[in-house]
Amino acid sequence: MKKHNWPVENVRHWLEPGPIVLISSRWQEQDNIMTLGWHTILEFSPSLVGCMISAGNASFERIRQSGECVINLPDVTMADTVAKIGNCSADTTDKFAAFSLTAEKSQQVSAPSIAECHANFECRLYDDTMIKRYNFFIFEVVAARVKPEPEWPQTLHYAGDGVFRTDGEVIDRKKWFTKVS
Ligand SMILES: Cc1cc2nc3c(=O)[nH]c(=O)nc-3n(C[C@H](O)[C@H](O)[C@H](O)COP(=O)(O)O)c2cc1C
Repeated sequence: MKKHNWPVENVRHWLEPGPIVLISSRWQEQDNIMTLGWHTILEFSPSLVGCMISAGNASFERIRQSGECVINLPDVTMADTVAKIGNCSADTTDKFAAFSLTAEKSQQVSAPSIAECHANFECRLYDDTMIKRYNFFIFEVVAARVKPEPEWPQTLHYAGDGVFRTDGEVIDRKKWFTKVS
């Protein structure tokens, strides 16, 4: 299904609920993917997202050096893939090939997007000052694409110890939102 462009200042719609994501990267012609749960929205415009990428991961140095990555949003049908990607390393596995994922050309960054994911958020490293101390990367989302359907894909939420939850019903309380959106 062809993805539509999505306003980068509203990526919180997808990331604020805290889904597990797949981070794709490219460094020295090599593509890689890691699973990541520790991320947070930091600002709407510029569209900033913070991610904790452990220095022990092959992705750490690749993303630090290239200054780019894509945050991809998988749905529940990819649970096995998400778990397996997060339990192997680029040092031993070509993850796009091993998990039959399609590396799609991104719009703004050289890192590939994962075609099978519901959404792709292309990122450039915006602030590296917290990498050394906390392994915390602050990215700017420079392009975003989302599948038009389903409106609410079932996302994965990691609870630790190998256990995921999916999201539940949509609860609309707009009527109480008089101060913030
Ligand atoms: C459910 C799940 C969540 C994870 N969350 C993170 C995370 O937030 N940050 C991180 O650095 N690693 C996280 N990991 C671990 C990496 O995905 C894992 O170490 C991966 O093998 C790294 O791949 P790489 O060495 O090819 O970069 C997570 C793994 C799983 C399975």
